[in-house]
Amino acid sequence: MPLIAVLAGDGIGPEVTAEARRVLEALDLGLDFEDGLVGGAGYRGAGHPLPPATLELAKRADGVLFGAVGDPACDALERSMRPEQAILGLRKALGLFANLRPAKLFEGLEDASALRAEVAREIDLVILRELTGDVYFGEKGIRTTAAGLRQGYDVMAYDEAEVRRIATVGFEMAKRRKGVLHSVDKANVLETSQLWRDVVSEIAADYPEVTLIHMYADNAAMQLVRNPGQFDVMVTGNMFGDILSDQASMCAGSIGMLPSAALRQWSDDTGLYEPIHGSAPDIAGQGKANPCAAILSAAMLLRHSLEMPEPADRIEAAVAKAIVGGARTPDLGGSLSTSGMGDAVLAAL
Ligand code: IPM
Ligand code: MG
Repeated sequence: MPLIAVLAGDGIGPEVTAEARRVLEALDLGLDFEDGLVGGAGYRGAGHPLPPATLELAKRADGVLFGAVGDPACDALERSMRPEQAILGLRKALGLFANLRPAKLFEGLEDASALRAEVAREIDLVILRELTGDVYFGEKGIRTTAAGLRQGYDVMAYDEAEVRRIATVGFEMAKRRKGVLHSVDKANVLETSQLWRDVVSEIAADYPEVTLIHMYADNAAMQLVRNPGQFDVMVTGNMFGDILSDQASMCAGSIGMLPSAALRQWSDDTGLYEPIHGSAPDIAGQGKANPCAAILSAAMLLRHSLEMPEPADRIEAAVAKAIVGGARTPDLGGSLSTSGMGDAVLAAL
């Protein structure tokens, strides 16, 4: 029986994850669920944002359904004890270097997008974000300069093997989709990006069927709101991918709609699935959060870790149908509660 580790975490994490789990259970796929403490909840319940038992559960599971981490009450803790370290630690410990963040506009959400409807309608892209390197994982700290000033520093680095493996996933994806790959970097300023660009170009030689377009990150941010329809697969580093995926979400209607998958190989392997939104402490516990991103993340789990594409399709179709039928949480301009939205998706199933 496939085992799903459920790591709901902080803020709205538990609310949205509960709906995703309800949808998975309704499909009767013979899945086993086991809960683990993570984030601020892990710190409070077990003294660490990523308790050893949780890491062990994640390693043992066939897939990890993740909610969100982040808790203002933990902001004063030393960095290694903060909730965010849980997700960074899981990504690193499980080797989940490939982060798929699909962004598409669901029919009916044209008005929720920050863009004009005719521009927003064209969005159907995947941001492929490298997830275990970059400035996120380089040496960092606060030091004192010769002038006696406090100085913060974070080292940005990618080695060629790291770039090669994420770029290869990008080319493979582009090959299966529309045959166009945008690689986003800042090679006009950063050496890390220059190496990124050189390595991606080298790999392009193995994929003559894919058109490779290099784009600077600032231009990509601009193009994403000007004409998002030009993009299909965008491969980029950890930091640029973090920023661009939040931006893409608002182009596609709401950050409450975007799922993600973190993988260590193309498919059929343990992966971690999470909505790209955070813990949203301001609305936590009020039943206002949109569970669609979490529900769509569960669909990605079925597709990528359990090789169950049919139920994955069913979940995605049910979300689309619920939206077309007018189901809307507050972020989408409606008044349904988190569980009300879950009910609408279940009814559409
Ligand atoms: C994301 C989040 C995380 C990140 C945070 C919570 C550490 O913003 O998954 O996009 O920066 O990767
Ligand atoms: Mg983010």
